[in-house]
Amino acid sequence: MNGRTAVITGGGRGFGKAFGHALAAAGYHAVLIDIDGTEAEAAAAEIRALGHSATGFAGDVTDEAAMAQAMAQAAAINGGIDVLVNNAGLHSDEYGQPILKMGLAKVRRLFDVNVLGVVCCTLAAHPWMKGRHGASVVNISSSAGHMGGSAYGDSKLAVAGLTITFARELAPDNIRVNAISPGLILTETIRNELPEATKARVKAMQMLGTDGEEKHIVDALVFLVSEKAAFITGETLRVTGGMAAGV
Ligand SMILES: NC(=O)c1ccc[n+]([C@@H]2O[C@H](COP(=O)([O-])OP(=O)(O)OC[C@H]3O[C@@H](n4cnc5c(N)ncnc54)[C@H](O)[C@@H]3O)[C@@H](O)[C@H]2O)c1
Repeated sequence: MNGRTAVITGGGRGFGKAFGHALAAAGYHAVLIDIDGTEAEAAAAEIRALGHSATGFAGDVTDEAAMAQAMAQAAAINGGIDVLVNNAGLHSDEYGQPILKMGLAKVRRLFDVNVLGVVCCTLAAHPWMKGRHGASVVNISSSAGHMGGSAYGDSKLAVAGLTITFARELAPDNIRVNAISPGLILTETIRNELPEATKARVKAMQMLGTDGEEKHIVDALVFLVSEKAAFITGETLRVTGGMAAGV
C-alpha cells in the first residue's frame, strides 16, 4: 500500500477522523482537511503518534481555490490521490430545524457545504485521481436522505444523486464513486447535540436493537475503497441497522 494517498474532508473529528485512522492503518497517507485546522492537525498528529502517516490542514470544502490548492498539496505527497472521502457536512441541531425556522441563509449554507462541497472537492481531486489504479470516491450521505421531510435530508438526497452522476462521469477514468448512508451513529456531535427524544425516535426506526458505532461506518468505507468492491460504483450503501428499508 506504500505510496497511496487518501484525502478525507471534515477529518478533524467524528467519522472523518475515524476514516483517517483506518486508512492510515491500512497504509495510505491520510490527508485530513477540516474548516477547523487545529482539529485537523491534532487528528493527524494522533495518527502519526501511532506510527502511521498523516497530514492535517485547514480548508473549507466550499472554497474552490482553497480546495484546488489542498488537492495539489495532497497529490504532491505520493504523486496523485487514490481515495477521496467527501465527509465534511453540517448536521448539528442548528441545521436540523424546519426550513421555515432556518430561513434562506442557513439553508443556503447547508446546501453549499453538504452538496456543493462534494462537487467542489470531487472536481478539485479528479485530475489527481485519473490514472491511479483502483481510485475511488466515497461520499457520506445519510439515512435522512431516504426519508424526506427535512432540508438536511434533502441535501443528503442530493449527495446520493451526485454519487450516480459522478460515477457515470468518472467511470471512463476508472474511478469508482459510491456513498454510505449512515443511520444514527453516536459521534460526538450527535451525542452532544441531538435531543434525547429525537435519538429515541430515530433509534426506534432500526430493526436491530444495538447502537450504531463509528466502526460500522469505517468498515463500510474500508470495503468500498478496497479491491473487493472493484465492480461496485454509483451505489449508496445504507449502514443503518435496518432503518427505512424499502423495495
Ligand atoms: N453521526 C451520524 O449519525 C451521521 C448520520 C448520517 C450522516 N452523517 C454525516 O456524516 C458526516 C460526518 O458526521 P460526524 O458526525 O462525524 O460530524 P462532525 O460534526 O463530528 O464532523 C464534521 C466535520 O466536518 C467539518 N466541517 C464542517 N464544515 C466544513 C467545511 N465547510 N469545510 C471543511 N470541513 C468542514 C467540521 O469542522 C467537523 O470536523 C457528515 O456529512 C454528516 O452529515 C452523520
